[in-house]
Amino acid sequence: MSYIRLVNVTKQFGDVTAVNNLNLEIGKGECFSMLGPSGCGKTTTLRMVAGFEDLSDGEVWVGDRLLSSPKKHHYTPPENRNFGMVFQAFAVWPHMSVYENVAFPLRLRKLPKSEIDQRTRDALIATNLLKSAEDSPANLSGGGKQRVALARALAINPDVMLLDEPLSSLDPHLREEMRFEIKDLQRKYGFSIIYVTHDQSEAMALSDRILVMKLGVMQQIDTPLNVYNNPSNKFVFSFIGVSSFSDVTWQGNQAFIKGSQHALPSALVIPDRMRGETVFNLASRPTEIRFTSETDPNGVRGIVIRKAFLGEIIDYLVKIGDQEIRVQIGRREPGPEVNEVCYLHFLRPFWYKVNE
Ligand SMILES: Nc1ncnc2c1ncn2[C@@H]1O[C@H](COP(=O)(O)OP(=O)(O)OP(=O)(O)O)[C@@H](O)[C@H]1O
Ligand SMILES: [Mg+2]
Repeated sequence: MSYIRLVNVTKQFGDVTAVNNLNLEIGKGECFSMLGPSGCGKTTTLRMVAGFEDLSDGEVWVGDRLLSSPKKHHYTPPENRNFGMVFQAFAVWPHMSVYENVAFPLRLRKLPKSEIDQRTRDALIATNLLKSAEDSPANLSGGGKQRVALARALAINPDVMLLDEPLSSLDPHLREEMRFEIKDLQRKYGFSIIYVTHDQSEAMALSDRILVMKLGVMQQIDTPLNVYNNPSNKFVFSFIGVSSFSDVTWQGNQAFIKGSQHALPSALVIPDRMRGETVFNLASRPTEIRFTSETDPNGVRGIVIRKAFLGEIIDYLVKIGDQEIRVQIGRREPGPEVNEVCYLHFLRPFWYKVNE
């Protein structure tokens, strides 16, 4: 059931449309991520939900509460939205103790003293900070400071947690740990999360659904698995995960990877909509290509120009005609050597027009 609703939300900064007619619904207790290149409108969307940014058009709802609607001249200020927020920069107050950092927003709300103490302690326990309660956050590590910000957001008992790259200033190991901690806290407290990140694996690991945006426009809203396996368009395909694109041309009825003397095998079925294209793209995930033998009817002939051992996987660059294609296989799988002729089987080919 939908809980947070964005209806035709648009934000204009002068000539720039930062967010263009965005519609989305997020469930109670759902973890929802926004992904997209820098400048695509993620932070602007989050700020509009939080109430820090007004809308140029559209409406924001939580449950049956209208929060923002320029048409209806309605605007609920951030402090009345009951949202927790954690942003990238460690927004902790260094002159206050860890305890005071967490308790301060509750004091502003003029809650009874005993309740302030109870909520502050609970949030400090949940974030593993109780033993640092009297310390200055200035003395904590990056992860510690981010925990303080998280504890402060938790203490208000938020309906929704808005997280804008909350882990991006942490080292990879700590990020991974904090990621699971956030998920645990969500389970315990039951809030919804809107999460902004540049890190795709973080979004995949945390989210029930992901929104992929480009230039303020929604491209796909789907489960992590579907965004990866069934991308709605070429942009989503190339933005999520690793991808290889090669140019393909027609010669009569046969298709050739550009510059290659060997026609693509008929086993590789090309959709009819590519018929009228002079040049179009064969796209694939490097992990969805296998080395095969010369006699395989799926085999596409190429030559290995680079082979790199990356630990769990071996990363190949294979030249077909004048195009280069990445192939990744497990380190235990047999594969060809540099300068060897090889045959590729595209297990899951995608076909795109050059300018779509
Ligand atoms: N206060 C502002 N005044 C003018 N333009 C702005 C303002 N805030 C954002 N923009 C513009 O709106 C667009 C979206 O910006 P936004 O910060 O939402 O992107 P983002 O997806 O969060 O990017 P990043 O991944 O770099 O954080 C950009 O073109 C940006 O320059
Ligand atoms: Mg941003």
